[in-house]
Amino acid sequence: MPDLKGLILSGGKGTRLRPITHTSAKQLVPVANKPVLFYGIEAMAQAGIEEVGIIIAPETGEEIRTAAGDGSQFGVRITYIVQDEPLGLAHAVLTAEAFLGQSSFVMYLGDNLLQGGIDDLVNAFVAGGPEALILLTPVSDPENYGVAELDGERVVRLVEKPPEPQTDLALVGVYMFTPAIHSAAKAIDPSARGELEITDAIQHLVDRGLRVEPHIVRGWWKDTGRLDDMLAANRLVLDTIQARLEGELIDSQVDGRVVIEAGAVLERSTVRGPAIIGSGTRLTDCYIGPYTAIGRDCTITGAEVEHSILLSGAVVRDLAGRMESSLLGRNVTIGRDQRQPRAYRFLVGDNSEIGIL
Ligand code: TTP
Repeated sequence: MPDLKGLILSGGKGTRLRPITHTSAKQLVPVANKPVLFYGIEAMAQAGIEEVGIIIAPETGEEIRTAAGDGSQFGVRITYIVQDEPLGLAHAVLTAEAFLGQSSFVMYLGDNLLQGGIDDLVNAFVAGGPEALILLTPVSDPENYGVAELDGERVVRLVEKPPEPQTDLALVGVYMFTPAIHSAAKAIDPSARGELEITDAIQHLVDRGLRVEPHIVRGWWKDTGRLDDMLAANRLVLDTIQARLEGELIDSQVDGRVVIEAGAVLERSTVRGPAIIGSGTRLTDCYIGPYTAIGRDCTITGAEVEHSILLSGAVVRDLAGRMESSLLGRNVTIGRDQRQPRAYRFLVGDNSEIGIL
């Protein structure tokens, strides 16, 4: 797609995913063992976009640069753009103005996942030629989203988290714009929460009589900004994986759609899919249940784990009850402790959440 650029927003604060985001970018949390961000970059590459700008925050930017690199692993060229402060999605667009130039672009929130990619959206934008195309999906709780009111094939009003929504069409975190969005983003004022809102910038286009069109999403869409959503995204993606057994199984069995990566070792363990076990991970006397993604170099011994995401280096041993619906950060250790006096001993970072039996 010539002259169509991509902009992925991978800055922000990620407060809703603390404590993971105290030390790491939420866009790098893995879904089925692949960083959320990579799904967005792949969607751009798939749609034929070659130039991708990624907005990064000063705190987590380096980690994102290291992970995504120059983009060659995805078949795109990546330019990193530092946003000094997360002052809103429209502020992110302005921060990227020099990179975007006079190009039209697709903007993708780096913590969002969209089944089926963005090909349809890009094609609709190129064919219809509006100033903006916004992706919408019906939701049961529109009061928690930015929602769009339509008049036929035109968007007439956008409202951020309306107490009494007039429609159930929520804005999905993917948008297409012509360069007209830059002047709109400059014309608006910060909202009550102090951010330059993309909904206000799009409303500005509408108010100027410019054409803003809706595009309804057919597949699922997930914003992974909170733990429950992250687990839901993990479920949805794991449901689509192909079984692949490359690791070593010793007196162990796998049922259903399971990926055991090369270098993983299972001993006297059962894995029931859909699930993925990363390379270098050791499972001994374990049961791993459906919808679990275990990263690289984890060690799990004498435990049952289900519907969870474990980042690399996590250690779980000798649990009396099943662990489920959990997200463990890198190198987290959870285990039974034999030392005396018998007691719970924790070393836990800010905003952690622990539920015990
Ligand atoms: P949000 O999830 O709305 O914001 P956040 O990352 O600050 O998270 P929280 O509400 O939990 O504190 O942002 C959506 C995406 O856009 C996410 O990938 C971060 C990114 N973003 C930016 O790059 N710059 C910004 O100024 C903002 C607000 C978000």
